[in-house]
Amino acid sequence: MGKESITKESITKEAVAKEAVTKELEKRCIPELLRLSDNTPVDTPQLWEARRKEIREILQRECYGYLPETGWETEWETVAEEENAFGGKVYMRTIEVRIRSGRGYVSFPFQLSVPGNTEKPPVFLYITFSPLSSPEMVEEITDNGFAVARVCYQDIAPDQNDGYYNGPGSLFPGNAYDGWGKLGVWAWSLSRIMDYLVQEKTLNTDAIAVIGHSRLGKTALLCGAMDERFSLVIASESGAGGAALFRGKEGEKVADLCRNFPYWFCGNLKKWAGKEEELPFDQHFAAALVAPRCLYTAGASEDEWADPLSEFLACRAVTPVYELLGKQGLVADRLPRTGDMFHEGSVGFHLRPGTHYLGRDDWKLFMEYRKKHGV
Ligand code: GCU
Repeated sequence: MGKESITKESITKEAVAKEAVTKELEKRCIPELLRLSDNTPVDTPQLWEARRKEIREILQRECYGYLPETGWETEWETVAEEENAFGGKVYMRTIEVRIRSGRGYVSFPFQLSVPGNTEKPPVFLYITFSPLSSPEMVEEITDNGFAVARVCYQDIAPDQNDGYYNGPGSLFPGNAYDGWGKLGVWAWSLSRIMDYLVQEKTLNTDAIAVIGHSRLGKTALLCGAMDERFSLVIASESGAGGAALFRGKEGEKVADLCRNFPYWFCGNLKKWAGKEEELPFDQHFAAALVAPRCLYTAGASEDEWADPLSEFLACRAVTPVYELLGKQGLVADRLPRTGDMFHEGSVGFHLRPGTHYLGRDDWKLFMEYRKKHGV
């Protein structure tokens, strides 16, 4: 008797917790993913391909600007090599990426660190704030059997409102409406590093993740949304313009982004400042483009500016797309509490205690997730 009533009670509690997620998401009134603009319901993977194209178009036109699709050539040169990094454990090389279009030529370096004791290691393509001279997490990542290709975002193009003067933006200058912003430039440049990584026979080219934190979490999400060669996309505390839904979001809003960092996005985003409810998209559109590949969104409990609940809800919102494509999306039966991690499905999420930061506690979970899913 007693046992039965406890079970019933816990079932009810579970149902209430699940319901809370659904209710929270419904409150946001976000645009539908699984419906074409001509109103056709999207209920097959083929129709999703058509919807995917629409979503790419909307996001580029209204938020990030158009990323170039043709018209350049890339070459790479190894400019430095260190065979015995970290006491002989790691082979490290610095590679210069050179990109040429009809308008000229730009270059930037990245650094590839490969553990000596792992055959064909999976890779993190990590866009970082730190200069390449800082070793950051490299030893811990390679000790865990992963290779890491790091690029410092300011080496690609400065984080300034410089028009299309510096970096890859100068190869394809855009207009004030739908021309690409800096997030697009950084994201596109990561794909030029990916061009190198996928032809590198010593790496597991089926398991290359792109990762970044904060503005670089937005960048990683955009990159992995547009470039289907990545097996996993990790957006750490990416917030507004990243994985967080704009509708109902706490902290940073469209108006804040457009006031403080207008050059990260395309000019059209300004139209939506203070009008989140009217946006023809929301950030679950960006997250959905990653499906059916793995997506991992990380939040921190005291990061109100990024708003981890809005990141979690975007993960929940894309889950039906994963299901349509035969995968589990986010497997979470309640709203997240501090310290939670949801690693079961193709959409991973964790809520680390503390403030806005990407640290070893986060990396540990990313590596665990990758090992679990083999991506
Ligand atoms: C600011 C900005 C955020 C961004 C963050 C960062 O706080 O408002 O959108 O994510 O900088 O990149 O550190």
